[in-house]
Amino acid sequence: MSDSVRALVAGNWKMNGVIASAEELQQMATDLGSADPGCEVMICPPSTLIGFFQRIVGDGPIEIGAQDCHVNEKGAHTGDISAEMLADVGATTIIVGHSERRQNHGETDSTVKAKAEAAWRAGLKAIICCGESDDQREAGRALDIVGTQIRASLPEGATAENTTIAYEPIWAIGTGKVPTIDDVAEMHAHIRGTLVDIIGDGANKMRILYGGSVKPGNAPELMSVENVNGALVGGASLKAEDFLGIIAAYNR
Ligand code: PGA
Repeated sequence: MSDSVRALVAGNWKMNGVIASAEELQQMATDLGSADPGCEVMICPPSTLIGFFQRIVGDGPIEIGAQDCHVNEKGAHTGDISAEMLADVGATTIIVGHSERRQNHGETDSTVKAKAEAAWRAGLKAIICCGESDDQREAGRALDIVGTQIRASLPEGATAENTTIAYEPIWAIGTGKVPTIDDVAEMHAHIRGTLVDIIGDGANKMRILYGGSVKPGNAPELMSVENVNGALVGGASLKAEDFLGIIAAYNR
């Protein structure tokens, strides 16, 4: 069952980080050393840093991921970056459909689905994000909204190996607010059930991450909820000390 799934703690740096930020990554790598951290660990820096960061982490326990990609492999798309280009500089995974992409760039479920397929085409894994707004939760529609997003964003051919789901309630992102443990458990069980319904028993091995104001202080409780197989961390992934504090939830 899902408890046997190896967790993933992934840091999403968003539009933060310059060459000098490699110091934080270096500290994470040094602290983790070669011992098993008890989970998989990933940092998704801005695209400008992916190649550089990949050279720093080498074959160590930290993987480098990307935050977005274009759906096409190449062409006349000024300013865009393809999944193949991200693979070329060492990314192993691409986050697709983050709520900031959905809100700020008008990405629909079908765009998100095409981006997940683009990641696979390049030989990479996809982290598909979903999550309800404050209004949607207040209206009692959270489960319905997230279920619908998953059905429309998950491409055919999704497996536990090529796809991770990240549940991120929009109102919890960067706000310091987190859902109750019961709400997290209810949503993650709903997502698990939806995934099993779509792809069958294999979905029991698919990771479902929780994201939204995860910090070292709340990580142990959040990460112990059934069907929570890791975290997608924004703000607290920028500082080695905080990110390592979250990873420690898996290393007790
Ligand atoms: P946060 O962001 O941890 O800063 O709330 C989470 C995310 O957007 O992935």
